[in-house]
Amino acid sequence: MKSNILYSSRISSLAKLNRLLMSETYSDAKFFILVDENTYNQCLPLLISKVSALENADFFEVPVGEEAKSLEVAAQLWGALLDSGADRNSVILNLGGGCVSDIGGFVAAGFKRGIRYINIPTTLVGMIDASIGGKTAVNVENAKNQVGFFHQPDAVCIYPDFLDTLPDLELVSGALEMAKTLLLSDEKAFVNLANSFVGCAKYPLDEIKKYIVQCVDFKQSVVSADPYDKSIRKMLNLGHTFGHAIESYMLEQNRAITHGIAVGIGLECALYLSTMKLGFSKDIYTLFKQMLHHIVDFERFTLADTEHILSYMRQDKKNHDGLILCVLLQEVGAPVIDVAIDENEIRDALLKFGKF
Ligand SMILES: NC(=O)c1ccc[n+]([C@@H]2O[C@H](COP(=O)([O-])OP(=O)(O)OC[C@H]3O[C@@H](n4cnc5c(N)ncnc54)[C@H](O)[C@@H]3O)[C@@H](O)[C@H]2O)c1
Ligand SMILES: [Zn+2]
Repeated sequence: MKSNILYSSRISSLAKLNRLLMSETYSDAKFFILVDENTYNQCLPLLISKVSALENADFFEVPVGEEAKSLEVAAQLWGALLDSGADRNSVILNLGGGCVSDIGGFVAAGFKRGIRYINIPTTLVGMIDASIGGKTAVNVENAKNQVGFFHQPDAVCIYPDFLDTLPDLELVSGALEMAKTLLLSDEKAFVNLANSFVGCAKYPLDEIKKYIVQCVDFKQSVVSADPYDKSIRKMLNLGHTFGHAIESYMLEQNRAITHGIAVGIGLECALYLSTMKLGFSKDIYTLFKQMLHHIVDFERFTLADTEHILSYMRQDKKNHDGLILCVLLQEVGAPVIDVAIDENEIRDALLKFGKF
C-alpha cells in the first residue's frame, strides 16, 4: 500500500493537508496530534495556524528522543486515547522526528487493532526516511526497535521549512542519510550535495531542501517494491552494518554520537570496501570523505576500537554462516546486497577511516 505523500513547490503541503483533513475521508474523524517538547514549542503553533482542520484537535506530548519509544509510553498513550473518547475512526498525527513517528505509528497500529495515522516529519531524518515505509517500533531493554509493526501511514506531509529551527547536529546527521540515498540513486545530485557542503562554511540548507522530495520519492519507490524488507529494501542499509556497530560501541564508551554521524562513518568504510572489491569510483569515495570530514571532527580508530566494533558487527542480525554481509556499491545507483566481507577487510576499512 502506498501512502499519500503531500508536498508541492506551488501549494503549501500544509494547505494540502488541511484540504485532505476537511475531505469526506476524514468527515467523522477525531484528530490527535503527537508532539515532543521541542515540536510542541517549535512546530505545533505553525501547524495549527495553517491547518484549521486541527484547531480543535487534542494533543499528547511524549518524552524527547528515544525515551518516547517504549512500551510504557505506548500504554500511556493508549490510555489517554481511550480517556479522550478515541474510536476506530480517530486519526493520530505525528508531528516530530523519527522518534515521534515511530511511537505514534506503533500506537496507531495497536489501538483498536489499527487506526489511521499521518506523519508530519519535522527533522531531516524524519522527512527522507523515518516517516515513509510503515515501519513502526519501540525499544525494549535498551535494544532498539525490538517490537513493532508494519503499518503504513495514510499520508505523509512534507513541509521543509520545519527544518529552519532544527539544531545543527540533527541537520547534518540527516544530511548524511541524504547522502546515502543519493549514493543509491543519483550521481549528479550526490556530487552537487557533497560539493556544496565542502564549499560552505556551515551547511547548505537550501541545497539540502532541494533534494528532499527526490529522496522521499526514492524511498517510497523502494518500499513499494519491497514493503516487508525481503529483498531490494535491504539496499537502504548501505553504511548501516558498520554504522550500527559504531553507534553501539560509541554509546558503550559514553561517547555517544548520532545515528546519522555513525552512518556517515559507516558509509566511508562501505565506500572504501566498494573501491577495493567492486571497482567503485575512487573520486566519489574521496568526495564523500571530504564531505564527511567537513562535517565531523572525529578521531581515527585505534586497533582496540576496531576489535570492539568488529565484535558488534559479528552480532549483527544480517550475518549468515559466520560471514558478515554488507551492502556495497558497484557505482552510484548500483548497489550490491549481501556482499560477504571478512574480518580483515573490516579491520582494514576501519583503520583507513579518516586517512587521506
Ligand atoms: N521507521 C523507520 O523507517 C525509521 C527510519 C529511520 C529512523 N527511524 C528512527 O527515527 C529515530 C531518529 O529520528 P530523528 O533523527 O528524527 O530524531 P528525533 O525524533 O529524536 O528528533 C531529533 C531532535 O530534534 C528535535 N526536533 C524535531 N523537530 C524539530 C524542529 N523542527 N525544530 C527543533 N527541534 C526539533 C526533537 O525534539 C529531538 O530532540 C530513531 O529512533 C530511528 O530508529 C525510523
Ligand atoms: Zn539510518
